[in-house]
Amino acid sequence: MIRVGVVGGTGYTGVELLRLLLPHPEVEVALVSSRAEAGQRIDEIFPNLRGHTDLCFSLPDTNTLRQLDAVFFATPHGVAMEMAPALLAAGTRVIDLSADFRLSDPSVYQHWYGLAHQCPELLSKAAYGLPELFGPEIARSSLIANPGCYPTAVTLGLAPLLMAGWADSEGLIADCKSGASGAGRSARISLLLTESGDNVAAYGVSGHRHRPEIEETLGRLAGQPIQLQFTPHLMPMIRGIHATLYARLRSPRSNEELQSLFQECYGPEPFVDLLPFGSHPSTRSVRGANICRLAIHQPRPGQVLVLAVIDNLVKGAAGQAIQNLNHSFGLPITAGLEQIALLP
Ligand SMILES: NC(=O)c1ccc[n+]([C@@H]2O[C@H](COP(=O)([O-])OP(=O)(O)OC[C@H]3O[C@@H](n4cnc5c(N)ncnc54)[C@H](OP(=O)(O)O)[C@@H]3O)[C@@H](O)[C@H]2O)c1
Repeated sequence: MIRVGVVGGTGYTGVELLRLLLPHPEVEVALVSSRAEAGQRIDEIFPNLRGHTDLCFSLPDTNTLRQLDAVFFATPHGVAMEMAPALLAAGTRVIDLSADFRLSDPSVYQHWYGLAHQCPELLSKAAYGLPELFGPEIARSSLIANPGCYPTAVTLGLAPLLMAGWADSEGLIADCKSGASGAGRSARISLLLTESGDNVAAYGVSGHRHRPEIEETLGRLAGQPIQLQFTPHLMPMIRGIHATLYARLRSPRSNEELQSLFQECYGPEPFVDLLPFGSHPSTRSVRGANICRLAIHQPRPGQVLVLAVIDNLVKGAAGQAIQNLNHSFGLPITAGLEQIALLP
């Protein structure tokens, strides 16, 4: 069994990790941290886990964590980069759900996250944890930067067009909608039911932290810099991301050619589901499942739209982190991740 720890077990991605890790056939959850709830039984705070664990929350003690095989950081940015060097030195693999190791340039990290990077020498060693696109790097690295939730949907949706050189690298648009759990579990007025219910609003239009992450990843895949307008919206729902992605083709392509391009890219991937051309995926179809569901449209020649949906807490966070664990330890990639989405 692979012995794992979760730092930040009381957040939304932390409790989602526990929901998926506790029944995982190859994993033993050995330590779950919370500074605020240390000593409390986990199932007293999260009754959905009753019968699945007798553990209590512990303090995030590096000396204990470094005895484990792998540690997930489900923490705000700034935490993993403080603790990762000691864990990696002890041979413990690190899967970080925060942004600490996603950007290769520490000055870009400092600009968007307001912190000086504490271990910039590790940035080049981190693998970007999008297994469908960076599988070999993930398998080789003991430090995995789990992508952001929006970047997962946007990158999977646009990557085939940019890798093939079919889409213009400028003028890309990602118009995205997210449920409120994307903002985490800490209290904020804008997330009150009375504020976010019965309401839709954009945010971060002039600049959002996920834009440099998406541009860096898609630029790597395209082999040249790309330019993206990323516009996120908060929706009155709990889980889910819907990304409507716009790209201009460099030369004419038929609908069949577009569909084949995506089919070849993702055909064997168990967690990317390409719908028939012209379909309309919905966030409900992926709720609770580690799936990115995609559909392609070409409403007029040369204008391609890709629709991508994920559950932000699963394929956008905890599920993808477990996919990375499976990849890293050579387990079957679907281990612990075969849940069907919840409907209705
Ligand atoms: N929510 C999403 O959909 C989503 C998707 C992808 C990625 N992410 C990223 O995943 C990370 C976690 O997100 P979340 O939404 O689960 O956050 P959250 O709900 O705010 O939870 C944060 C967790 O981190 C712990 N924590 C906070 N400061 C800490 C510190 N200094 N040392 C150790 N533990 C600390 C908290 O527990 P204590 O304070 O009790 O220790 C809590 O358990 C973030 O970096 C976020 O950007 C989130």
